Formats: sequence, C-alpha cells, structure tokens
Amino acid sequence: MDRMYFDHAATTPLDTAVLDVMLPHMRDRFGNASSVHQMGRQARFAVEESRERVAACLGAEPGEIVFTSGGTESDNFALKGVFDAAASDRSSHLITSSAEHEAVLRPAERLQRNGVDVTFLDPGEHGAVTVAQVREVLQPETKLVSLMHANNEIGTLTHIREIAGLCREQGVLLHCDAVQTVGLLGVDVNDLGADLVSISGHKFYGPKGIGCLYVRGGVDLGSLVEGGSQERDRRGGTENVPAVVGFAEALERAVEAAGKRVSHIRSLQEQLIAGIRDRVDPPFVFNTPVDILDATAPHIVNVSFPPVDDAPIDGEMLILNLDMQGVMVSAGSACTSGAMEPSHVLSAIGRDRPTASAAVRFSIGKDNTAEEVDAAVDALAETVRRMRR
Ligand SMILES: Cc1ncc(COP(=O)(O)O)c(C=O)c1O
Repeated sequence: MDRMYFDHAATTPLDTAVLDVMLPHMRDRFGNASSVHQMGRQARFAVEESRERVAACLGAEPGEIVFTSGGTESDNFALKGVFDAAASDRSSHLITSSAEHEAVLRPAERLQRNGVDVTFLDPGEHGAVTVAQVREVLQPETKLVSLMHANNEIGTLTHIREIAGLCREQGVLLHCDAVQTVGLLGVDVNDLGADLVSISGHKFYGPKGIGCLYVRGGVDLGSLVEGGSQERDRRGGTENVPAVVGFAEALERAVEAAGKRVSHIRSLQEQLIAGIRDRVDPPFVFNTPVDILDATAPHIVNVSFPPVDDAPIDGEMLILNLDMQGVMVSAGSACTSGAMEPSHVLSAIGRDRPTASAAVRFSIGKDNTAEEVDAAVDALAETVRRMRR
C-alpha cells in the first residue's frame, strides 16, 4: 500500500475498459465526423451513437446534449450563453452562490463587469444555498439561477429539485453544475429539474477534456465557439471522437454501477470520519457537514486543523507530508491548490483564515479499500501530531 489515491474529486483514473473502446478511434477510425466519405460517416455514427447513449443515461433527448471539453467549458457556456441570448434585454439578473466552482464564479464576475446584476448568495454554515434564500432574491429581471449539485470541496448537496420547482414557477432558467454527482449518484435531468446541467467525463473514470452541457429543449444558448457547424452550430470545432466515445462508455458504466459504487464509497466515508474522530488528536473541525451525511455527496470528507497556541498548521506542508507517506489528497479544489489564498468555500462557510488554510480534502473512489482508509487515518494522525509538536 505505497500509493493511496484519495483525490477522486480532482480526477479519476481512466477505466481500462473505457480506454479499450477509445483506442480503435485513435488508431484506425480517424475520420473527421464532417467528412462525407465512409470514414467520415463512421466517425459521425460514433459521435451520434454516443450522444444517444449519454442522453439515455441522463433521461434526456439526444438533441439536448452538447459535447464540450468538460465542466469548465460547460459552466462557461451555460452562463455566457443565457446572457448572450438575452443581450437585447437590457435588464437582467443572475443568482448564484459564493461557494460555486471558479468555472461559475469567474464567468459570473465577467457578466457583472458587463452590466448584468449578479447576486452571490451566502451558502451558510453547511455550504448550500436554500430554496428560501433563492426565493428572497428573485426579481422579475432574473434570467438564470446557477447552483452546484454537490460542492466539490466539502461535498454538501444543494436541494436542486426544490429550487428547480421555484424557478419553473417563476419562469427562470436553472443551471446546475453537477460535475461532482453525475456518474456517481446517477442523475436524471428531469428528476433534477434543471434546464442546463454541466457534466465532466474525468470525474467518473472517463477521459479528460470531454464533458457535456445538457440543454433542455427550447432553451436558446446561441453558440459558444464559432467557426464550424458542429454541435448544431453551438460549439464549432472538429469533434474529438475517441473522447466522445469514451465519455459515453464511462457514463453508461457509472450509471449501471451507481448503486454498488455509492454504498461502497459511503461506507468508506463513514469509516474515515469515525477514524478521524477516534484517532486524530483534537482540535480538528469537519468542513463537510458530517452530522447530516445524507445531505452530502458520498465521496468527500474535508477536515481542518485549527491552530494550537496560535501556531497554525501549513496546509500545503500537511498535504506534502501525507504525500510522502503515499496518501494523496487535496487542500481544497484542485483548480486552486498551488495558490496560497485559503479556499473561498471554507471562507464562505465561516472558517477563519488559519483554519481554512489547514484543510485536507479526502475524496474516495470505487477502488479504495477499508485497509487504505485505515492506513490514511494513521498517516493523518501521525502527521498532524508531528506538525503540531
Ligand atoms: C464542481 C466542479 N465544476 C467544474 C469543474 C471543472 O471541470 P473540468 O475539470 O472538467 O473542466 C470541477 C473540477 O474539479 C468541479 O469539481
């Protein structure tokens, strides 16, 4: 057990069975899906068949699936697309939360600079915005509500279904970044009720650089990338056929295995929480709301180590020390680790700077074992003890 990977919220390994279905499209079936000849038609067939498979997994229509390069692009497309399409409409309003992924926050800030009125809701101590909060700030000018399904740093689930009901009632579009849940919880877009859903392949054992945006029929988003007629003029550029095929295969496998995977991962999450409670020296504070586990995604446990005698623990050093013992975890969002600023999510749920800076996010995958969790708890307990000494 010299390598224990607990960073599945950052990315998952590519399933070898998924790689196997991708390889022929890299080696022999290299045609451009826009070409008219037989190899082009073969590639087109692979893309459209994959679109059908993805749609079936999500309870969507094939025409509602736009392939993108992943979660970041899907989030950008959702936000920019809605406000581009409404550009002639001078008054417009976006509601989101300050605990969203940067792929939503940065486009929201850009829209704000361009004159859109943006409300960033405070997610409260557990890290999720409530339907009552959204109701309170809805305006006649509100065009879009954008909220994530599971927070990628602490795992809290947002009650998207209830919020979707409210949005529908008010004629407002709802975008949901479901990058951390689709492929784990088995999401049906009609059940979720969102009009736009962001999905990323590398979070469920598919390839990197591929994902999709579900766009409910009738929602006008315009085009994100101009210059080609691919994806029904919404995203120009030659399709990455191997990635599209791998994405569909990985999603199908994930949806099929969801029940088994979730119960395994949830049991390891419970074991990890119990292990930390029993064997790590206090003080520590769970950033994941561990007392309401049903309201969290099953794969994430985020815990902070507040200062003792005013001596803070350096979060980066903590991660590196764990890494030296073979335990791979994140300090927070993978996209922000490396930056010295404490996590915006932990700040948003009220952690002070030294506590937010000394956080560890474990994210569990389908192939982790109880023995690995046990060894990871030992490594964490020992590392924290040593760093505090
Ligand atoms: C919630 C969330 N949204 C968006 C992204 C970005 O996805 P991608 O890496 O596919 O661009 C991530 C990745 O960590 C994420 O966790």
